[in-house]
This record gives sequence, structure tokens and C-alpha cells, in this order.
Amino acid sequence: MRIRGTTAAEIAGSVRDQVASGELAPRSVLPPVRVLAAELGVNRNTVALAYRRLVEAGVAETRGRGGTVIAAVPQLAREGVGVGGDAVDLASGNPDPELLPDILAVAGRGHYRQPLYGVPAVDAGLAEWACADFAEDIEQPFRTLVAHGAVDATERLLNAHLTRGDTVAIEDPCFLASIGTLRLSGYRSAPVQVDGAGMRPDALRAVLEDGARAVVCTPRAHNPTGASLTEERVAGLRAVLADHPQVLVIEDDHFSAVSARPYYRITPPTTARWALVRSVSKFLGPDLRLALVAADAETAVRLEARLSAGTTWVSHLLQHIVRELLLDPGVLELHERAREAYAHRSGLLVDRLHAQGIKVPYRPDGLNVWVELDVDGRSAVEALAQRGWAVRPGYLFVRDPSTHQGAIRVTSSTISEPQAEAFAAELAAVVAELRTTGS
Ligand SMILES: Cc1ncc(COP(=O)(O)O)c(C=O)c1O
Repeated sequence: MRIRGTTAAEIAGSVRDQVASGELAPRSVLPPVRVLAAELGVNRNTVALAYRRLVEAGVAETRGRGGTVIAAVPQLAREGVGVGGDAVDLASGNPDPELLPDILAVAGRGHYRQPLYGVPAVDAGLAEWACADFAEDIEQPFRTLVAHGAVDATERLLNAHLTRGDTVAIEDPCFLASIGTLRLSGYRSAPVQVDGAGMRPDALRAVLEDGARAVVCTPRAHNPTGASLTEERVAGLRAVLADHPQVLVIEDDHFSAVSARPYYRITPPTTARWALVRSVSKFLGPDLRLALVAADAETAVRLEARLSAGTTWVSHLLQHIVRELLLDPGVLELHERAREAYAHRSGLLVDRLHAQGIKVPYRPDGLNVWVELDVDGRSAVEALAQRGWAVRPGYLFVRDPSTHQGAIRVTSSTISEPQAEAFAAELAAVVAELRTTGS
């Protein structure tokens, strides 16, 4: 490694050249500041500034005493990971395919004409549906846009308002894709503790007072815990956010149409920049890659600019299909059934676990049940895998793996009564076994 330069820009540029040529591989440790400063005959502050710029640009990372190292593309945990062998899949976080509509059956309906460049980005019929839906929950003026799913919307919204190194408040535990988005975009995450009623106001206040510039919050069916905000909790969160009106608030209402809980809005009227994101993945299908977004005028303009520079627009063919699905009475009936089925299945699992003496802190909404065991969660996941049950360890969803050590996430979206019964018995056996081995 031969780093050159006498100014911070030249030194940083030289490191970047070597990263580009492969001379500096991911995870290579850069020389200590004082060593490089002596070698180049420059002030230590110049090298320190160069390293800071590399970190801000995402080229390097600081590892405390481990020095400054070249960044690698982060390995991110994802939803829907494959389950090996014959294991019963209670791990995927997926909706039940039987509760998703037949997309092709409605795709040919209605009027669709090939749009050409220059068409408005949002399908007029879909915008009308979305505006009416959002207007039931939003008392402020808003604009409606369409993005490629909730994860895409969240990433673009954050990038529209924040810069690398900014801090974003997220739930702890948290949805995997939000953790991934923050890491990939170079934001710091500020975990906000979640209990049975969602984000805790005191924890949110602490991270906002510490300088967080945005909050991403799931109002109901929180993934992984299943928590939904109560009216009382929302009042507390609104009061905290009202004291920080400059903070961007993103609400990820991903389970909207099939949630068994009401939506309570956490964004107070004083918040200047906000968005409410409603993905259709959980009730029309994840392959549609579409989310409806309501936002204040400035945020909408910025999001629109980011969308048009990236994907230009979300295909009108997809928007057309989503509109036809949302207007179809059969699909609305399916949503009723899905809402009942998901609530029934998670309730079933919780009841069977309780019957086995396994505590689930609260009755969840959504596709998953979060279980806190008094033994090690990773060991429980391994032991369950040997018995033919796939679930996910809780540490994947938390910022500090030393917290929630006994947690596991169990996807209940397709679980049957006999499966819930058998799984609860197996988990109880695993817990008893681990207790005797002291894990
Ligand atoms: C909290 C949360 N938000 C959003 C989504 C869906 O994201 P997308 O619309 O990108 O498919 C999921 C899916 O698991 C989720 O759990």
C-alpha cells in the first residue's frame, strides 16, 4: 500500500484509487494517523481529515481501537430466506399465498393503453383510490405518490432529506430491511425500545434529543414483535415528536388492509416533513413491488425527483393491476378473510405456547409471533431445526445481540392448529432440554 498526497483531498483520493484498483481490499486496515502523517510529512490533522472524509463517503469505517478499515459491502439478513430440507417453515415472514389474489385474473380488466414518456407518474384511478384511503387517516394536506414497495420508499425518503452519517431512529427490535437500508446508505441507527404497545416515548425522546434527524415507525403489526400502537401510546409519541418538528417522520403501515388493529397516526400536525407508506406486498403480493405514499408537498417533490431520476416511474402496468385489484369486490372479501385468518393463526399459536408455559409478552398482529424464552434463543433455533422446525433467532432483529438473547421469531401466517400444537410442545421440550444443559 503506497498512499500519497499532501492535502486531505489528495490523501483520500489516493486511498480511493487503491480501493478502485483492488490494491486495498475490503477490511484492509489503513495505517495509523500518526504513522501516515510522518511518512507523508504532513500534519496529523490532515490525515485525520482525509480518513474522516473516507468514512463519510462510505469508503472506510472506524473500528475504535481497531483503526480505520476499508469498508466491505455489508452482509445483510433478509426476509424469506429458504428453509432447508423438510423443515416446517415458520421462519420466512411471508404472507400466506392462499390469501393473496390471483393477479392474472384481473390483469386484463379495465382500460390500459401503453403510456409513453411524459405521462404523469401516478395512474389517475390509483391516485383517486389512494387519496380517498389516506384522507380517512390524514387531516393535513398531502400528495400521493407510488414507489417500488415500502423498502424502496423508505430508502428514497431518507436519501431525499438526510446525508450520510445522519442518525435515524428505528424500532428495536426492527424489520430487517430497515436495518439494511440504514447500513447501506451510511446512516447511524438509533434504536428505540419497543414494548407491547410499540415504540416507547421516553426512548424516542432520548434519541431525538441526541440529534436523530428521522424516525421510521411501524404503527401496527410491527415486524418482528407484532406490536401495534395503542391510542394512549400514540398520544405520548405525538407529544415527543411535536417537540421536534424538524424531524422527518416515516410511518411504515405495511399491514394496512389486513391488520386487525386500527391505524393511529403518530405524525403530529407540527411535523414539517413526513410520509405515510402503505405497501401492497402483504395483501396483494410482494411481487407487485408497489407502495402508495402520502407525503407533505416538499417531501413529495423530493421523492418524485428521486423516483424520476432512478426508475422514472413505477410501471403503469403494475399500477393498473393494483388499481383493478383494489376495486375488485372479491379482493376486498379476500382481505376480510385474510385479516381474520392471520389474527386467528397468531392467536392460536400464542394460546398453544401459553398452554405449554411459554410466555408471549402480548397478543400480536401480523405474520409473526415474538417469543422471549429464558434460555438462549440461538440454541433454541438450532435445536428446533434438528426437530424439523425452522424459526428465526431474535438477535438478527436487534441492534445489540446481547439484548433479547432468549428471543425467537415464529412466522404464524400459514400455521395450522395441529402445527401450532406440535410446535408449542416441541419448543417446550427444547426449552426444558436447554435448561438442564444450562444454555
Ligand atoms: C415492517 C415491514 N415493512 C414493509 C414490508 C414490505 O416491504 P415491501 O413493500 O418493500 O415489500 C415488510 C415486509 O416484510 C415489513 O415487515
